[in-house]
Order: sequence, then C-alpha cells, then structure tokens
Amino acid sequence: MTPAYPISTHYYDAVVVGAGGAGLRATLGLAEKGLKTACLTKVFPTRSHTVAAQGGISAALGNMGEDDWRWHMYDTVKGSDWLGDQDAIEYMCREAMPAVIELEHMGVPFSRTSTGTIYQRAFGGMTTHFGNGNAQRTCAAADQTGHAILHTLYQQSLRHQAEFFIEYIALDLIMDQGQCRGVLAWRLDDGSLHLFRAHSTLLATGGYGRSFFSCTSAHTCTGDGNAMVLRAGLPLQDMEFIQFHPTGIYGAGCLITEGARGEGGYLTNSEGERFMTRYAPHARDLASRDVVSRAITLEIQAGRGVGPKKDHVLLHIEHLTPAVIHARLPGISETARVFSGIDVTKAPIPVLPTVHYNMGGIPTNYRGEVLTLIDGNPETPVPGLMAVGEAACVSVHGANRLGSNSLLDLVVFGRAAALRCAELIRADALHASLPADACAATLERFDRLRHAQGRHRVAEVRLSMQTCMQNHAGVFRNAGILQEGLDQLMETRRRFDDIQLKDRSLIWNTDLAECLELQNLLEQSLVTVFSALKREESRGGHAREDFPLRDDENWLKHTLAWLHGPDKVDIDYRPVHLYTLTDAVTVFPPQPRVY
Ligand code: FUM
Repeated sequence: MTPAYPISTHYYDAVVVGAGGAGLRATLGLAEKGLKTACLTKVFPTRSHTVAAQGGISAALGNMGEDDWRWHMYDTVKGSDWLGDQDAIEYMCREAMPAVIELEHMGVPFSRTSTGTIYQRAFGGMTTHFGNGNAQRTCAAADQTGHAILHTLYQQSLRHQAEFFIEYIALDLIMDQGQCRGVLAWRLDDGSLHLFRAHSTLLATGGYGRSFFSCTSAHTCTGDGNAMVLRAGLPLQDMEFIQFHPTGIYGAGCLITEGARGEGGYLTNSEGERFMTRYAPHARDLASRDVVSRAITLEIQAGRGVGPKKDHVLLHIEHLTPAVIHARLPGISETARVFSGIDVTKAPIPVLPTVHYNMGGIPTNYRGEVLTLIDGNPETPVPGLMAVGEAACVSVHGANRLGSNSLLDLVVFGRAAALRCAELIRADALHASLPADACAATLERFDRLRHAQGRHRVAEVRLSMQTCMQNHAGVFRNAGILQEGLDQLMETRRRFDDIQLKDRSLIWNTDLAECLELQNLLEQSLVTVFSALKREESRGGHAREDFPLRDDENWLKHTLAWLHGPDKVDIDYRPVHLYTLTDAVTVFPPQPRVY
C-alpha cells in the first residue's frame, strides 16, 4: 500500500530544478518570456556550485588579440577528441560573444583591460588560426568569475518575478505515458512534500563529482537530475568521460584555477623539471586537461612526484609579481593559504589531478530537449523534459572539456532551452490529469529509506563507493581495474539495500537527505564504470591502458546507458553529429592529436 504523505500540488508553466548558472539562466529566460516559472533548489541559489568556478568564461571577443569563433569551435572539437557534436559546438561558440556581452550588461563585474574592455586570459587548448597561435579568450572576473555570474543571474531572475523554492530536494520526475508532467520534491524546513506540475521540467542539477573521494565539486554535487532520469527509464550519455582537473590542492582537492597557468604559472616534478615540455612541446602547461592530468600521473608513477610519498607535483606562481597575483588570482592565493599553508608569492603549491567535471549526462539536442531511443531513433525528444548545464550532455565537450567552456555552456544553453520551451508551450495551458498512483513508487522509496533499519550507515556505504570510484575509474583504466570496480560497486549497492537511518523525522533530516543523494550517486557510478568497461579505446578523459589508441572506426559514437532495477545496465550507442548548423563553417573531420 502506498504510504500516506499529504502532498501539496503547485501548477506552473515551467519548473527548473537547480539554481546554478544554467538553472538561473533558464529561469530568467522563461520568466522573461512571460511563462509562470518556478525554480526549485536544494541550496540557496548563490550557494550553488557555479559559485566555485574560478578562471572564466570563453568567448572570441578578441579584446587581447585577434580571435574568431570558428577558431574557438575548432579548439572545442579538437579538445573533445572529436566526440563533441559539431552542430551544438558551432551554436555554443557563435553565441558566446553575445552571451558574454549580455552578462556584462546585466551587471557582471568583469576584470578590465587598460582600455576598459573585458579582460581575457589564456586557457588550455585555446588557440588562434586553427591551432597555429595562442588565444587569450577566457573572460575573467579575477578568479571568481562563477561567483560574479551567479549573483548577477539570481538578481536578474528576481527582477523578472521568477519564483524560488529554496531547500527543496527533488525526489523524482513524474512521468505519464512517456511524457514528463513535473517533479515531486521534499521541503526540508517543514518536512512537507510538494508536487510541481509543469508543461516543461528543466533539469539543471549539475554533475556527480561526489561519487569520487577527491573532487573539486561541492558536497551538493550528487547529480540528482541524472539519477531521476535513470529511474524514469531514460538513458544517460557518455558517462565514462570524467574530467580530472590537473591542479586540485594536494590532500584537500580544492580547485586551483587553470587561470594560474594562463597567467604564467607552470608545473615541476621532484627534479625541478618543467615536465610538460616533454609531454606537450607546443602547448606545454596549457595543454588540455586530459593531457596534463595524464602527464602528472605518469611523472608520479615514474617516481618523480614530490613530498615524502612522492605523490604530487608543484605548481609555481611565485615568480609572478604580487600585483598580478593580487589583481588576477586573489581567490586561489587564499585557498592555497587555507588548505596547504602556502604563501603563493613565496612557495609553489602542491597539486594533484582531482575529479572536476562530468562530460556525460542527460542526452539533449542544442535546444535543451532531452533525447531517448524510440523505434531505432536515438534522438527522439522526451515531451516535457529538458536539461541544461553539467547535468546535460549536449554534447559540446565530447570526451574532454576545455577550461572556461563550462560557464559558457551554462549560459548559452540555459538561454537556448528557455527559448525552445517558449516555442513548445503556451502560458497558462491546462495541465492534463495524472493517474492516481503517479507518485506511488517515489513515495514508497522515500518511506522505505526514511524507516530503513539495516546494518550499514550512509557514511560507510558512501566512503566505500567513493574509494572504489577513485581507485577504479581514475585517470588511467584497464579492463581488470574496471571489472574489479564494477564488482565492488555491486557489493556496495547490496550494502545500500541494507542501509540504516537513525533519524526518522521529516524536518531537516540530513540523514535521509544524504541517503537519497547516496542512492543517486551509486546509480550514476554504476553506469559510469559499466560504460567505461565497454568503451575499448582511449579518447579524451577515458584513457585505457589496454586500448591506448583512439579508434574512430569503431568508437566514434556516443554511449547510451540505461539502468534497470538496482544494478542492471544496458548499453547502446548513437552517432556523433559530424555536421554543422549553418554554412558559416565546415565540419572538422577527426585528426590525430598533436600536442
Ligand atoms: O581552472 C578553472 O578555473 C576551471 C575552469 C573550468 O573548469 O572551466
């Protein structure tokens, strides 16, 4: 029998889940179009993880030297190791310039050049003339660009009367006959349950970095939207591609922006050698993140790591002038002081590759519509469901994301999804009635976890999952390591079925909140490792020791993964879009990678 929980029902044209950069840009766009819009978020909007984005947002403004969005597109396709969809990449790079100017006009306090234009710094993989020069393309607000953008978007959303539901945990999508009708959520401050009916539900729930032991992601990054999609019987795409940021602070995992290397910082090993010159003679310390992370890992494996355990390397910015550090890198100076006791003007920062970004996620087209496989067509939109930001796999990042393309992805596709939504739905249209048992499965799961009396605590199961992912889905992988990881995850999943909660209340029950998040993380971890085991090649962030080469003949395709029941994963594939949207640019055919 379905457990009895009173549910309040709210009716909106559109509901956005998540209030990071993508969620807020979508919310703003929907509200501007006159659609009755609710934004649900489990943390206060300006605490969303976008606040932690440091280095900047890419756009070929050309403020610091010549630039062209087609060069940006080429870099993004190459950076993606040719797995990115080129129609979507074209859209993102072309829309980048107006998107950044729009942010400037909304009030984002960008750093300035001496002539008053937006300051732009160099970032990894960003070139001019299709790889032949160095671009300064990353628009920065010191090293706190995400913070600046997030606050501005929140203020603008309030100005347009979007309604916020803060500290609500989304539990599940409400699906009926293949269509999304809204979302069921739990309000933390009074323990009540709420059904948000919507003609369009937009998931902007971010990544799932917390599946790993060491990550730059906030504790809230549990990929709740991705897991809701899996439980709705829909696939996730390219989940094997996890980005390790080369410079997480050793021991703490906090981000030290790539902007530090963009301003002239460099890496050394225990011999004081600038080892990136060996791995990437042209791009050196500003090679793309997959390349730098692998190089650091190989240095450590070769015994050239620093410290008593020889298990990290050093990032130097102490040669930069204090004025540059103060103006351009104040945030990381503080982070390095707090988390490793380093004065960056005097000593190098100990760093290690740390999980930073999920290239995979909910498959969408460039307008934000969620896609699934129906009757052999893997690009069939799911009515009523959209996804944007790190939760989505558009796929503009393919197998590896270039730094500063994430903030760009958030605002460009947040806006695009709002525009598409306004085309698809009519303000104040009537809501179809729902079957009486539409929320039953979710209520049963919620109630079962709330009253769980098993043997294993949430923290214990979470640690076992995080350790497993760190050790088995890391920078380098092979079949043996991945299979062992899968076996351990299955065992961890069985322990989750025997979970124990102590707190049975409904108001601010963090034991239950963490348990729900753990289930989300476990589901995504399983499809990640399974997808990684299946992909027998090396591409971007997926480096297989047993298949060291990229294999375009067999693997130039996106992985689709479904989760059936607690732990059965099904895999299929869909073609990469090797075509452009307009004839302003021609497709970039796959090339061997040269660094
Ligand atoms: O290094 C950084 O500042 C991170 C930027 C990004 O991931 O886009």
